[in-house]
Amino acid sequence: MSILVTGGAGYIGSHTVLSLLEQGYEVVVFDNLSNSYEESLRRVEKITGRKVKFYQADMCDPEAMEKIFSENPDITSVIHFAGLKAVAVSVSQPIEYYKNNIGGTLTLVETMKKHGVKNIIFSSSATVYGAADELPITERSPKGVCTNPYGWTKWMIEQILTDVQTANPDWNVILLRYFNPVGAHQSGLIGEDPQGVPNNLTPYIAQVAVGRRPYLNVNGNDYNTPDGTGVRDYIHVVDLADGHIKALQKMDSMTGGVKIYNLGTGKGSSVFDVLHAFERACGRELPYVIAPRRPGDCDANYADPSLAEKELGWKAKYDLDDMCRDAWNWQQKNPYGYKGKD
Ligand code: NAD
Ligand code: WQD
Repeated sequence: MSILVTGGAGYIGSHTVLSLLEQGYEVVVFDNLSNSYEESLRRVEKITGRKVKFYQADMCDPEAMEKIFSENPDITSVIHFAGLKAVAVSVSQPIEYYKNNIGGTLTLVETMKKHGVKNIIFSSSATVYGAADELPITERSPKGVCTNPYGWTKWMIEQILTDVQTANPDWNVILLRYFNPVGAHQSGLIGEDPQGVPNNLTPYIAQVAVGRRPYLNVNGNDYNTPDGTGVRDYIHVVDLADGHIKALQKMDSMTGGVKIYNLGTGKGSSVFDVLHAFERACGRELPYVIAPRRPGDCDANYADPSLAEKELGWKAKYDLDDMCRDAWNWQQKNPYGYKGKD
């Protein structure tokens, strides 16, 4: 019995492959390395002392998908991370995003069906809620209007997998809606390695702390929040990886159906809360300037994660200081990420 991890060389994928190996699962990974390095998996091997079976393959390529499933008939479940995720790029390149994320998922699912693989866990996102009317956000909150093509790909893939399950009632589909994944494995050997200028808050702060960027742009200080900066639910990537293990275990008792879970801590933190936690982690003040709001950003969002606790037995263990400590440990040990230079 093997678990196929798509996009497994990436940030969340590599941490989940590590957790799977630590839990004794057999794992097959594929990734086209468009936003990652195979080095992440070499490091996972170093930490766990186990080999990772890796294919450099594109999920949009039906022949490559066929090869992976036919060479690994013991695949029973798929954890599906592969996808493009840069919100701003998705606005300027919608065709590429729809083609890659949706087209690739269709090819993957078609190949699963052909090979009788009926279990899939999908990396969805809190972005599918749009601007939520009520906080905290529960899974019963309606899916909303996304503000960018990336978000719509998540929204639509959720629908596609739900429709596939309706047509194939013995399929088990789990949609995990992540809030804001941050941090790194405690070893400092694997972590988030954005290419170019980071889009997200914590990798940007980490690059300021390590001297690659002069200051943080705080995007908006006039939001309707306690200190005026945007509030989000940051979740440690190691907790998130554990959520996938719990979802896999849940699948063992499912007899066909679709389950949806928020994975967050339930606690909102502002941009200044994150900046100050990072300052505590690296032991010095970090420069920032107040910059304009980013288009499409909301004031605040945070999860009600109680359903995952009730049904998966999963609860986040790490707090914001842990997340920043581990992100800083990774950044300090790998100032230029896996490739070691700019
Ligand atoms: P990531 O970019 O580090 O990982 C995604 C991986 O998919 C990369 O390694 C990339 O090379 C690979 N990939 C992309 N297109 C592919 C294709 N056509 N074929 C094969 N591989 C392909 O991103 P991540 O942060 O680890 O995110 C993993 C998943 O979680 C993504 O689907 C993302 O949308 C989702 N997600 C991420 C966040 C976040 O903030 N990081 C939040 C919610 C959901
Ligand atoms: C967090 C806060 C910014 C950068 C994004 C995607 C979402 C999901 C997770 C995948 C906001 C502020 C940021 C900076 C700043 N991804 N900020 N200066 O936007 O909540 O979520 O990643 O599904 O779909 O939209 O995360 O880390 O970009 O921003 O002040 O340089 O930090 O305005 O309030 P976001 P983020």
